[in-house]
Amino acid sequence: MELSAQGRRVVVTGGSEGLGLATARAYAGAGARVALLARRAEKLAEARDEIVSSTHAEVIAVQCDVSKSDEVLRAYQQIEAAFGGVDILINNAGKSSFGPIVEITDEAWQADFDLKLFAALRLARLVWPGMKERRWGRIINVLNTYAKAPGANTAPTSVTRAAGMAVMKVMANEGAPHNILVNALLVGLIESQQTHRLHRARAPEKPYEQFVQEFSASIPMRRLGKAEEFAGTALWLGSDAGGYVTGTAINIDGGSCPVV
Ligand SMILES: NC(=O)c1ccc[n+]([C@@H]2O[C@H](COP(=O)([O-])OP(=O)(O)OC[C@H]3O[C@@H](n4cnc5c(N)ncnc54)[C@H](OP(=O)(O)O)[C@@H]3O)[C@@H](O)[C@H]2O)c1
Repeated sequence: MELSAQGRRVVVTGGSEGLGLATARAYAGAGARVALLARRAEKLAEARDEIVSSTHAEVIAVQCDVSKSDEVLRAYQQIEAAFGGVDILINNAGKSSFGPIVEITDEAWQADFDLKLFAALRLARLVWPGMKERRWGRIINVLNTYAKAPGANTAPTSVTRAAGMAVMKVMANEGAPHNILVNALLVGLIESQQTHRLHRARAPEKPYEQFVQEFSASIPMRRLGKAEEFAGTALWLGSDAGGYVTGTAINIDGGSCPVV
């Protein structure tokens, strides 16, 4: 079965690199018009040009720090002007932030919530009325498997992501009567700039390949995921094939998470 997103208007936050870029490419290849949001204009332009040349889809690059409410509003207005609405919102922008929980400052908590929770809430609030009116919408929140299984030294990420999972569930319940489907994708470890940052933070003395090999030993599938494998599930959720799935948090982690 071929997954289609023909004519859908899709927003991917953090769409210039990694999982967001792969997802934007997958949607563009399936016939969608795509808006990429990220902070660095140069990376955004590169991503847009690459997707347009490989898919010939309509892609716009919108510079935006999604942790800032005024920038989110401005970005949404830009997308509305270009596309006239949003059918699929993929809240993907984020980064991991870990530390001993009692050492995390108020500022660090706030920054994490602004980036990973409030960004998703604010964007959902903006796209919701249009989705409701058209009786069609999909919201996909990209989280982390720590949302289900937090371990020591995994805050603030694990806490923010758990809140994100609750937000997803509330929205799914409120959206279902209007055919707005809301789900979460919980990532384990997938090759991207994030895995390189993890390597630099945890084991800079080792070559990257060695770090990946050692880390992979703890993953049941014995390897990291690929961005394209993530993008396939994200596309399925936004296609008609995923049309009866809502309120679910799917692990994309090679079997790592102990919680289903
Ligand atoms: N890869 C993994 O193994 C893994 C594991 C668990 C969870 N995740 C989550 O999955 C999502 C994607 O991760 P990734 O691995 O693809 O990360 P990545 O390769 O580092 O890409 C992150 C993307 O988000 C954008 N971004 C970061 N902060 C932003 C902000 N304040 N406003 C707007 N855009 C922002 C970045 O562009 P700019 O820097 O230019 O803004 C970039 O496009 C993230 O939420 C991450 O936390 C990933």
